[in-house]
Amino acid sequence: MPGFELFGDKERDEAQQVLESGVLMRYGFDGMRNGHWKAKEMEALLAKRMQTKYAQLTSSGTAALTVAMASCGVGAGDEVILPVFTFVASFEAVIALGAVPVLVDIDDTLTLDPEAVRKAITNKTRVVMPVHMCGSMADLGALERICEEHQLILLEDACQAIGGSYNGKPLGSIGDVGCFSFDYVKTVTCGEGGGLITNKEAVYSNADHYSDHGHDHIGNDRGAEDHPFLGYNFRISELNAAVGLAQLRRLDSFLEIQERHYNILKEAISSIPGLSFRRVPEGGVENYSFLNFFMPDEDSARNAISELKEAGVDGCFYWYDNNWHYHKKWDHLKNATGLGPLSPVIREGIEGWKASTFEQSDHWMSRTISCLIKIGWTESEIQDRAHSMRSALLAAASTGKLS
Ligand SMILES: Cc1ncc(COP(=O)(O)O)c(C=O)c1O
Repeated sequence: MPGFELFGDKERDEAQQVLESGVLMRYGFDGMRNGHWKAKEMEALLAKRMQTKYAQLTSSGTAALTVAMASCGVGAGDEVILPVFTFVASFEAVIALGAVPVLVDIDDTLTLDPEAVRKAITNKTRVVMPVHMCGSMADLGALERICEEHQLILLEDACQAIGGSYNGKPLGSIGDVGCFSFDYVKTVTCGEGGGLITNKEAVYSNADHYSDHGHDHIGNDRGAEDHPFLGYNFRISELNAAVGLAQLRRLDSFLEIQERHYNILKEAISSIPGLSFRRVPEGGVENYSFLNFFMPDEDSARNAISELKEAGVDGCFYWYDNNWHYHKKWDHLKNATGLGPLSPVIREGIEGWKASTFEQSDHWMSRTISCLIKIGWTESEIQDRAHSMRSALLAAASTGKLS
């Protein structure tokens, strides 16, 4: 999945242009920058590729989520519905705004279950945040209908699924706002960076100001700009944007390789007894960054993952035990443990769901294995891998480890 696997001259050349000008900041210094505006150029390309009117880059994917929600007017006490299988950034961004993360179940798409979302809606709910984990998407049609019915903001976290689509539209472009991460292990990387896309002018304009201390960016004297509202510094640097620009131009070629490698591995294991694949909602196209499959039960999943490890097949994850991605290990969230006290509103909000057990999610996650798709594999490496994966899973099956 990571773009760093194919990092090369194109990225170096873009970065070199910025280094030669010496202007590492995305705003101002017009005379010194030799006409280079890498962040602006990457924003234009991101908006074009994602078929949206606007894009705003940020310093990370976490920042993109924070800026996206702030730009939609989310603040103290608002509730944001998000899945129990995600990355910790989802609730970090919510809490940073004084809002309350409300965790709900996933289904066999490994993303938000629309029925669980419906049940969690209260009069404080402002946002529904599907997180398109491991390359595939939530049932966006159902979530759009729920958001329309209850006048909620639909925020797509597409950080792990850039380039996937739903009903012909790029992931991230379907909700009111969509977010991407360009951190070091994403399909498109710029070291550290992120971005949001939207078709809503007000959301874009808020994001543009909010991510730069509330600067209104009117005129050409930065020091004299006005601040219509409070903001923060979530700016991307020009140097990061330069690398990201070169990588984003290569996105479709990365996706092509990813899809090919994914299909070879999927084909190799599809006849393993008892194994089934994650459901992709109708109309959805994955970005193929992970091959996700279910074993018949928790024991067989644990045994299969150990067979894969023994066979030297790296990059296969059992998220059920993972402290970054699954609720079971999020005691710091459930106990509202900050460095200082969190606001009473956040603590009370978390108290409301912290005793929930999320059995439906445990049912799916305890059986899920996700295997990373690398884009740097040679032909012989991908063939060897397909063979090793199949043998490891068959070995598990033949020793009775797969029921
Ligand atoms: C689903 C998801 N959302 C948000 C983020 C945060 O992105 P970043 O690392 O750029 O802050 C990540 C990063 O791993 C992620 O996987």
